[in-house]
Amino acid sequence: MITRQEVSYGLKTSIECKKTLQAIKSSSLHFLSPGIMTFRILILVLASMVTNSIALMDQQTYIVHIDRTKIRSSIHSQDSSKPCFESIIDFISEASMEEEEILVPQLLYAYETSMFGFAAKLSKKQLKFLNQVDGFISAIPDELSTLHTTYTPHFLGLRNGRGLWDSSNLASDVIIGVIDSGIWPEHISLQDSGLPPVPSHWKGVCEQGTKFSASNCNKKLIGARAYYKGYENFVGKFNETKDYLSPRDSQGHGTHTASTAAGDVVKSTSLFGLARGSASGMRYTSRIAAYKVCWPIGCANSDVIAAMDQAVSDGVDVLSLSLGSIPKPYYNDSIAIASFGAIQRGVFVSCSAGNSGPYQSTVGNVAPWIMTVAASYTDRSFPTEVKLGNGKTFKGSSLYQGKRTNQLPLVYGKSAGTKKEAQYCTKGSLDSKLVDGKIVACERGINGRTEKGEEVKMAGGAGMMLLNTENQGEELFTDPHILPATSLGASASKIIRSYVQSVEKPTVSISFIGTRYGDPAPVMAAFSSRGPSIVGPDVVKPDVTAPGVNILAAWPPKSSPSFLKSDKRRVLFNILSGTSMSCPHVSGIAALLKSLHKDWSPAAIKSALMTSAYTFNNEGSPISDMASSNSSFANPFAFGSGHVNPESASDPGLVYDISTKDYLNYLCSINYTSSQIALLSGGNFICSRKPVLQAGDLNYPSFAVLFGRSSLNASVTYKRIVTNVGKPQSAYAVKVEKPNGVSVSVEPRKLKFGKLGQKLSYKVTFCSFGRARVPGTSSFGSLSWVSGRYEVRSPIAVTWQ
Ligand SMILES: *[C@@H]1O[C@H](CO)[C@@H](O)[C@H](O)[C@H]1NC(C)=O
Ligand SMILES: *[C@@H]1O[C@H](CO)[C@@H](O)[C@H](O)[C@H]1NC(C)=O
Ligand SMILES: *[C@@H]1O[C@H](CO)[C@@H](O)[C@H](O)[C@H]1NC(C)=O
Ligand SMILES: *[C@@H]1O[C@H](CO)[C@@H](O)[C@H](O)[C@H]1NC(C)=O
Ligand SMILES: *[C@@H]1O[C@H](CO)[C@@H](O)[C@H](O)[C@H]1NC(C)=O
Repeated sequence: MITRQEVSYGLKTSIECKKTLQAIKSSSLHFLSPGIMTFRILILVLASMVTNSIALMDQQTYIVHIDRTKIRSSIHSQDSSKPCFESIIDFISEASMEEEEILVPQLLYAYETSMFGFAAKLSKKQLKFLNQVDGFISAIPDELSTLHTTYTPHFLGLRNGRGLWDSSNLASDVIIGVIDSGIWPEHISLQDSGLPPVPSHWKGVCEQGTKFSASNCNKKLIGARAYYKGYENFVGKFNETKDYLSPRDSQGHGTHTASTAAGDVVKSTSLFGLARGSASGMRYTSRIAAYKVCWPIGCANSDVIAAMDQAVSDGVDVLSLSLGSIPKPYYNDSIAIASFGAIQRGVFVSCSAGNSGPYQSTVGNVAPWIMTVAASYTDRSFPTEVKLGNGKTFKGSSLYQGKRTNQLPLVYGKSAGTKKEAQYCTKGSLDSKLVDGKIVACERGINGRTEKGEEVKMAGGAGMMLLNTENQGEELFTDPHILPATSLGASASKIIRSYVQSVEKPTVSISFIGTRYGDPAPVMAAFSSRGPSIVGPDVVKPDVTAPGVNILAAWPPKSSPSFLKSDKRRVLFNILSGTSMSCPHVSGIAALLKSLHKDWSPAAIKSALMTSAYTFNNEGSPISDMASSNSSFANPFAFGSGHVNPESASDPGLVYDISTKDYLNYLCSINYTSSQIALLSGGNFICSRKPVLQAGDLNYPSFAVLFGRSSLNASVTYKRIVTNVGKPQSAYAVKVEKPNGVSVSVEPRKLKFGKLGQKLSYKVTFCSFGRARVPGTSSFGSLSWVSGRYEVRSPIAVTWQ
């Protein structure tokens, strides 16, 4: 239950709430007190009426955080259950007017559940007056986040298109809130036949809007809302001809992620043939609440947290966010702050790690209370075979389905067009005299992959090959090209470039093999963002990996599968790649755990998912990484604890639980100021003068160990507490894989439990010995507690700084 505190307002300059509300209602236009109106202001008013864009530039949206406990109560509040943020706005308005400010501040959102504060449009001058408001903590400028798809559009024939769930198995009352680009409610994946009534704890609504009515929701899609006030401040007034002013999804991303999250976990697992991920017997269906916050250009953070705030208040159990921006300290990261409010109310928060890999320290959404999800390949592929005139063959990938091309002349760069951009096949760069009837090789980059195919086709080309650079490694994007085309890895691309240059009449053919299962899997996607976390290196991030490459899920009829306007194909299911796709898999599995273990905290669910994750592929070798052409093994900075394993996660043996207070003590240990801590705590927490914890003592289910580069024989000792959720009477023994150059000792080495719920603690000491290190080098190991079939595994990531 969410109990909202009776909160009212109080300002250093006292204003009555009642009066304020009336003032706001009557002042939707520029509100000027005649007493201070001067000629200069009048001119400015006229000027701003003429060029609205000036007003837009002078004001910006800020997400304002207020300390709940420092807002004084007022007897004048009309509706004392609502905070009177209007009165703060009114105070700023009046105060700034006295300084001849002509723009009126505007309140966009009040945040009351996941965080306490509001979003408002303020000028620089008005921003300063916030400092005079009791309880003011910080004002974070709004910004646009982006969706975490690789925008790898793919096509799959309708005959393969099947929903990820089967509505004959219905047991759960778990609600997943999907914060995304909305929903296509008529999709067959969202039918509710056979579902029991909407869960009684649901308090949300089905908002009306463009082509969306209350009757679009059902027992599967139980709620839908749209947020755009923040977005409008970036792009100008909403134009209803460009997008639906409603929860309806015009992009496809939200429909895709929602159907992945609330799909039948069992089927999705078997569909993709995940190695050890079989969840046979556990059939499951949960409900979807769609919160549309992402529009064609991006997702404004003020809208995102308005949706999170509302979703928690509506009664969602899991929040799924396949979006993000660059990593920021937690106190500057509104999504981290709102997530903290959510987990305090028992809501599990799962976020995508980002698609900025394989570069180091690119991982985002890294707060320790968030589940940060990386992306990996499944064992399914759509192979092609490329054969050069010299007889050499290479394996590629494509969703184009058709006959093998003839052995045709191959052109690339200069031989395809005189412009420098010809090697990228950008719009208008190819010369049809050079390209006609031939196969064109195109470098990735600058324009979209399917757009390159469109350009080749328009220039009369008969086919296309997409070449990877060294950095893109062997990652093979699988796209629904509109002509015979394939992508190729870095090593094949290198050979093809030199073949074209060294042979007088280079030729090539492409054949399309179809769908294949049984590749070594999982393999880390090169694009998946990597640790160590730049914000909190004392926590291993990302946390886990899940399927995020070539994921088949629901697609609205509004968008073509290739995103090309010229592409008139329409499909019910589409294939996309990105951490956007892996995140909702984990959201769905978390919902499953929540329905099985109603009393588990978000941290316990997270622990279960992490300690049961696996690090070996379906051939028994360590999981490898697409980013390295030597197919070296992936490490915890790519996949965290490993690949999620639903069945084992449902019965993990032990969990590492973390309370709200533990997280706040962690923030004390990393030297957060009292106001930074108040952002998250709501103002009810003070760090003890003596640190009770070091950062590494946060009861996290993995170990990040930091050493100075020249610290020989340096050692650190971390504490952990595990809770027995397996067998009442059980004995666990520790098993350690030592990281290179580090000794690990655990005390005690055995844990004996007598009942369920019992907590036992242990200490682990890491000692760095030997030579000095190059800063930034890491080595990896693991610590597991083993008892019968249980293996409760935590990765160890040691970094010399
Ligand atoms: C945090 O946000 C504030 C306010 O926008 C900004 O001045 C500061 O530089 C940010 N700090 C970091 C470390 O990003
Ligand atoms: C909305 O977009 C359409 C199509 O681009 C344009 O014709 C129309 O003028 C726009 N309306 C407004 C109010 O900007
Ligand atoms: C790949 O192999 C080359 C040569 O053996 C080596 O220099 C390079 O560091 C390796 N790359 C990775 C990521 O292991
Ligand atoms: C916090 O401050 C203490 C004392 O000044 C210092 O030893 C420690 O390294 C700091 N920790 C971090 C994470 O900055
Ligand atoms: C580090 O430990 C090793 C083995 O315990 C010892 O031989 C060596 O002298 C120590 N080095 C330093 C600098 O203390």
